[in-house]
Amino acid sequence: MCGIVGYIGSNNIKDFLLEGLKELEYRGYDSAGIAVLQDSELSIFKAVGKLENLVRKTKDFHPQGFGVGIGHTRWATHGKPTELNAHPHMGEFSYVVHNGIIENYKEIKKELDAKFVSQTDTEVIVHLFEKNLEELQEPQKAFKATIDALKGAYAILLITKAAPGKIFFAKHGSPLIVGRNGEEIYFASSDAPLIGHAKEVHYLEDGQWGVAKAGSVRLFQDDEEITPEYKPLTLNKELAQKGGYRFFMEKEIYEQSDVITETMMGRLQEDHIEFEELDEDFIQGINQIKICACGTSYHAGLSGAYLLEKLARIPVTCEIASEFRYKDPVLTSDTLFIVISQSGETADTLEALKMAKNAGLKTLSICNVDNSSIVRLADRTILTRAGIEKGVASTKAFTTQVMVLWMLALYFAQLRQTLASEAVVAECKAMAHTPAALKVHSSMHERIRRLSKRYLHGHGFFFIGRDIFFPLALEGALKLKEISYLHAEGYPAGEMKHGPIALADPELFTIALMPRHLLYDKIKSNVEELSARDSTICAISPVEFELADDFIKTASYEHFMLEYYEMAVVLQLLAMEIAIRLGNDVDMPRNLAKSVTVE
Ligand code: M6R
Repeated sequence: MCGIVGYIGSNNIKDFLLEGLKELEYRGYDSAGIAVLQDSELSIFKAVGKLENLVRKTKDFHPQGFGVGIGHTRWATHGKPTELNAHPHMGEFSYVVHNGIIENYKEIKKELDAKFVSQTDTEVIVHLFEKNLEELQEPQKAFKATIDALKGAYAILLITKAAPGKIFFAKHGSPLIVGRNGEEIYFASSDAPLIGHAKEVHYLEDGQWGVAKAGSVRLFQDDEEITPEYKPLTLNKELAQKGGYRFFMEKEIYEQSDVITETMMGRLQEDHIEFEELDEDFIQGINQIKICACGTSYHAGLSGAYLLEKLARIPVTCEIASEFRYKDPVLTSDTLFIVISQSGETADTLEALKMAKNAGLKTLSICNVDNSSIVRLADRTILTRAGIEKGVASTKAFTTQVMVLWMLALYFAQLRQTLASEAVVAECKAMAHTPAALKVHSSMHERIRRLSKRYLHGHGFFFIGRDIFFPLALEGALKLKEISYLHAEGYPAGEMKHGPIALADPELFTIALMPRHLLYDKIKSNVEELSARDSTICAISPVEFELADDFIKTASYEHFMLEYYEMAVVLQLLAMEIAIRLGNDVDMPRNLAKSVTVE
């Protein structure tokens, strides 16, 4: 998740690039860079860390007159956040910024006889372009041949001394907008940098690419030249950052279906899982796993424990970090210690990791923020690639963490040969359907919005599920608590009759997770018991359930994890719609902070 900007014109090129990057900094701040080309004179600046470092570096740079420029703020996916890995990436006479992931960069790299200086996937683009230019002798053809060779997701801006005054651009899977104001042409990966500059904008569709120069944009859809569909630009920056959604939480719920693709990219193959972050040496000698985390990340960890035991037949325990660190735990050297954290800064999780390291355990972090304290300390890290999460109530961090754990479970299953190859392929196929399961359909959202009005009062909620749907129930209850301030508990459905069922009455709302493919008959009897005691039941299931007071029908998937993912979205939307009706600030709930860096 990165941000990109571009500019063609004579009006303070540097200020537009830096101010535009400031608007996009929330998408990533591992490093930033700009490149400006005036005639054949190139100026390039890069800096690690926040944008202010780049601003400091460019303080004596004052380009005057006409030029073209590109800029980038980076959220590291391939390669550490260093200056060499920062964009723009350079060939001999061309410069590129890119948002997305080039899946086949390793194959392309093998075919190129170029000097690579970074560990990024992006650098292949610029070298491939220069090689194509040598062969085709025409920059536009060379650019088209370059994007035709790329697999994965990208929004690309490329400038070259071979065509000064022009920006080549392409979009596939990552957002890109082109704007204009008279002779001036602007590019950005979202609206916000363009506000106050471009008068009208065209939102590129996948497969669109082209070349722009002062006052003109030539646009192509694959091979056919088309006319850009310019629209006037919205003027509200906050609204632009939220992409038209009411809250960042809502935007992040909707984003899940896209970001999960980034989580899987390069890791999920047709018939197996690859992790460039891991190797057999590291896994060697591991006979058990301990997972440690807090809050939502803990719920992801619990879900992971079910998956690892099911698929890889390896014993797993999962603990709350604040408990773990004071219980004088028994740690054995054949244990892989996994910490999970969105922020990478949670104090209790960090301390738990230090304890495991001091005890000589191998450690792995599953984290969303590269270069965070947890990432720096762990032996290995698998980044979730969810992009910056702004809503305090975690949504896309959770679903991407669970995806990493599902892939990890399959990776262990491959190494430990606990699944037949057909079963591994079936898991891979199911994973590939996750983006569809996470997609928010407007009919579903509207149904949940309407239904939410019945759940604003009452004396509490039980979220119930069995097996891996139990941690999902915990997560559903936490989401509701955090933003609605209503009392909610997650419970294993089979445990209700050991006490909590005493609370059942019409004012007790039961949110029942009833997947078709995991213990359906068992959970059905548990819900029947609650219904018999007059609890108000909201059933979430692909199977019609006549005893439910409210029923949210989910799609019929073949794999329980796809049911899990769709239900995760339902629970997030339900919590959000209830909180909105109660008039709460969904993004900044009372008493909470996004990252808990104190004990
Ligand atoms: O950054 P982390 O994942 O380590 O944070 C852990 C918890 O503080 C976090 O998940 C918290 O529970 C969220 N507010 C849940 O929505």
